[in-house]
Parts: sequence; structure tokens; C-alpha cells
Amino acid sequence: MSETIYVGIILGSTRVGRFCDVIANWAAAQVRADGRFQPILIDPASNNPDELRNLVGQASAYIVVTPEYNHGYPAPLKSLIDSIGPEWHAKPVAFVSYGGISGGLRAVEQLRQVFAELHAVTIRDSVSFASAWELFDSTGVLVSPDRPVRSMRAMLTRLGWWATALDQARTVRPYPQSA
Ligand SMILES: Cc1cc2nc3c(=O)[nH]c(=O)nc-3n(C[C@H](O)[C@H](O)[C@H](O)COP(=O)(O)O)c2cc1C
Repeated sequence: MSETIYVGIILGSTRVGRFCDVIANWAAAQVRADGRFQPILIDPASNNPDELRNLVGQASAYIVVTPEYNHGYPAPLKSLIDSIGPEWHAKPVAFVSYGGISGGLRAVEQLRQVFAELHAVTIRDSVSFASAWELFDSTGVLVSPDRPVRSMRAMLTRLGWWATALDQARTVRPYPQSA
């Protein structure tokens, strides 16, 4: 029997009235439905800095839920990422993005560079919602779920592979803090 993988679902927006809750709730439901994972919600709008650090430390994989702001990712997300150090090391990071025409993909590509500096491994597969507000109904239900669900499954399969591989590797040999 394989062990549960704790996945931190990081909310990238702290904006009042944010759409991020709809996307993060959808992502968390997919993670729960998969059966291999336990989601941990990590929210810079409601967790204090100590809580954020503890939650990031508890997870062995992450899904960053990010919108796109002016072709980048939101400043509070950068602040959260930068406030935490070794807790990111040798762990996998996947992305669910949303926004206007780009579906948040420009924000994701920038985040890949940031997480490389934090010794984290980003997952090739991602899920992206262009004009996201048109894709969910007023109760937060995704109207046409087939393709995003398939993309999410592919992403979770690879995120799970990396999480298990890196958990085992860190147990056998701690990740070197200096080289
Ligand atoms: C300041 C600002 C800048 C934005 N810039 C972009 C952008 O460059 N590309 C895009 O696709 N959407 C852009 N959008 C649309 C957002 O991605 C969209 O409003 C999204 O819902 C924001 O996430 P939130 O509601 O969770 O904060 C922008 C929105 C805001 C508020």
C-alpha cells in the first residue's frame, strides 16, 4: 500500500474578490478524487508567516494556483515564495493557472525560473484556464470538465512520481545544503 502524498495547494492571489478560490477549490477536489494525495491549502491571504512556513514544510509536493497579472504572477505569491527557503528544496512543483487570453501561462513560465533557484523541480504538465470566469458557472462548477480533468490527471501522475521519488531520495540522503 503506497503512502499518502501531502500536496500543498498554494493560492497565488490575495486580491479581495479573487477568482483564485474557484480554481483552487476545483484543483483541491481533483487532488482528493485521485486518491493518492491529501491536499493542504496554503493561503497567503489567511495564513500568517509561521503557518505558511509550517504548511510548506509539511507538504512533499505543491500545486501553485496562479493568475496572470500584467504578464507576470502576483506580488504576494513572490513574497510567499521568497519568505521560505529549505522547505522547498528537492520537492516537485506543478501549476494550475488562469487568466485572460494566455490562461496564466506567462506567469507559469516565470515561476519555473524562480523555483529552479529554490532547488525545486517543476513539472512539465500543467493545467491552464483561459478566460477562466467564462468556464465556471456561478456556483464554481466547471461547465466542460473533460479536457481540464484529463490534463490534471496527467499532471498529478507525474507530480506523484516526482514526490515519491524525491521523498525516498531525501530519506536515503539529505539534500545537500551546500555544494
Ligand atoms: C492587475 C491585473 C492585471 C492583469 N493582467 C493580466 C494579464 O496580463 N494577462 C491576463 O491574461 N489576464 C490578466 N488579468 C486578468 C486576471 O488574470 C484575472 O482577472 C484573474 O481572475 C485574476 O485572478 P484573481 O481574481 O484570483 O485575483 C489581470 C488582472 C489584474 C487585476
